[in-house]
Amino acid sequence: MTQASGLRIREVGLRDGLQNIADFMPTAAKIAWINAEAAAGVREIEVCSFVPPKLIPQFSDAEAVVTHALALDALTSVALIPNLKGAERGVALGVAKMVFVLSVSESHNQANVRRSTDESVADFGRIVALRDAGPDVPRFVLSAALSTSFGCTYEGRVDEGRVVELASEMAARGADEIVLGDTVGFADPGHVRRLVRAVQGAVAPVAVACHFHDTRGLGLANAFAAYEEDVREFDASLGGLGGCPYAPKATGNVVTEDLAFMFEAMGVATGIDLDALVKVREIVAAALPNAPLYGSLSRAGLPKGFTAAG
Ligand code: COA
Ligand code: ZN
Repeated sequence: MTQASGLRIREVGLRDGLQNIADFMPTAAKIAWINAEAAAGVREIEVCSFVPPKLIPQFSDAEAVVTHALALDALTSVALIPNLKGAERGVALGVAKMVFVLSVSESHNQANVRRSTDESVADFGRIVALRDAGPDVPRFVLSAALSTSFGCTYEGRVDEGRVVELASEMAARGADEIVLGDTVGFADPGHVRRLVRAVQGAVAPVAVACHFHDTRGLGLANAFAAYEEDVREFDASLGGLGGCPYAPKATGNVVTEDLAFMFEAMGVATGIDLDALVKVREIVAAALPNAPLYGSLSRAGLPKGFTAAG
């Protein structure tokens, strides 16, 4: 299979999924998950968050997990960071890509990272300075993920003009990629088309990626709408693990297996072996027997006579 389409699915279950699960997933199981998904052809995995271990004990083994993931040649290992300290932890390990998170909605930003959006933007400037510091600091790709871009549990509607403004500001400050996050599943395909188009117009040539949750069942439809607007990088979570600790009732991300199936069925190569990907669920199910796993492909299997795109 090839990556001819340039489509990239970024697994975020190890971060977005696990941050909502109280049971600690043993480090060996996280590593087995990463190995198996990389072997199935997933080229980018968000493997952890660099957050205070006291706040989210699930990521207390972040250094060990990242060190293992970085040894896998074909994989881009990504870490989520909420602040400069997180970026410094990533730099110390030589992480190739980091995703800085801030929320468009002021209330969500306060709840999630305990500071105003302006303070997060200023912190982002310090992280860019770190990235660009020169030969002693390994350069990393820096994404800016705008949570609550499509709506917020606290504030409801989020002004689209504000999303465009914040995306432009992050691009101007040096973001290598903008991720539009539907943290709580408010988006619909029409909204996605409009907002993606507006943000792309404002930040080009910086790429726009999308992060959809399936809270109201529209995750795949939203991903398709974004694809039609030329988005080529999507976050997804194996078995739909996920949610947000500060977004009550948000459920997991769009299911990686189903998203990959949709694209392959459409003739868009993902580089992923679907059978091998579905099997990775067994590792997660064995390590986290109480965590619900969602998904349709795993239940129904591939249609008879199905051929993958690549
Ligand atoms: N990694 C490890 N430790 C960190 C850290 C990081 N990225 N950032 C801060 N800390 C430590 C500080 O050194 C300090 O330690 P000390 O008490 O031993 O001195 C302590 O945490 C508090 O630091 P402070 O800067 O005051 O942070 P805070 O309490 O205001 O919390 C965040 C701010 C951003 C660190 C925290 O709210 C957070 O991590 N939020 C992310 C939540 C999340 O992951 N949400 C889901 C993802 S979208
Ligand atoms: Zn999310």
